Amino acid sequence: METVCPVKHIAFIMDGNGRWAKKRLMPREFGHKAGAETFENIVNYCYDIGVQHVTVYAFSTENWKRPQHEIDALFKLFSYYIDHYAEKIGNRNVRIVFIGDRTGFSEDLKNRMQNVEEKTKNNGRILNIGINYGGRAEICHAVNKLIAEGKTEITEEDISENLYTSLSPDPDLIVRTGGEYRTSNFLMWQSAYSELYITDTLWPDMKGDDVDKAITEFMRRNRRYGGL
Ligand code: FPP
Repeated sequence: METVCPVKHIAFIMDGNGRWAKKRLMPREFGHKAGAETFENIVNYCYDIGVQHVTVYAFSTENWKRPQHEIDALFKLFSYYIDHYAEKIGNRNVRIVFIGDRTGFSEDLKNRMQNVEEKTKNNGRILNIGINYGGRAEICHAVNKLIAEGKTEITEEDISENLYTSLSPDPDLIVRTGGEYRTSNFLMWQSAYSELYITDTLWPDMKGDDVDKAITEFMRRNRRYGGL
């Protein structure tokens, strides 16, 4: 029997890979590799405790400003892990959805992303992976789609239904590792009423216990959605 979790949708800003590596006198790429392993563990842990939707921020529209060698290393990592995750996570009744603008990616990467989405499309739980994702760009994309469909008046529902994350409800909880107090263009529209949990833990050090702490804190909060 599946556990009932108070959090239906949890989202992660996976920050601190670079600092984690620096503390070990290693290159930043080493931190990203450790972060990719943590990603798999944390995502699986979330499904184990009954979360139905998980969203992660792996590469933002602003991350292109990083040195080319770091961008290359990150994309090598995504490329390597895409099939691995499809096998390991996708087989656990998880539908993998890549959120973000993939138009500039290589044909090979685009095809493999599409294959993973296709292979897992009948699974019930959702994993949204943000690669070249930006919240503002996502809203513009949704609005442009609606304009192209001939809409002249746009409702909030129209926008929600046309976001990359349209298969998921808005996140209940957004967890940011690495101690920075900002949301960095992540899920701008969807986070209107999300609870934020910020921890100094660096992403590669993140464990199931830290997810438990975030959910315990979430349960203590009194969500009023603007009411009393
Ligand atoms: C931000 O930390 C992290 C990133 C830009 C990359 C996130 C990528 C992963 C966790 C690994 C891969 C994930 C998948 C889905 C394969 P930072 O490096 O900017 O940290 P810093 O603030 O300490 O420098």
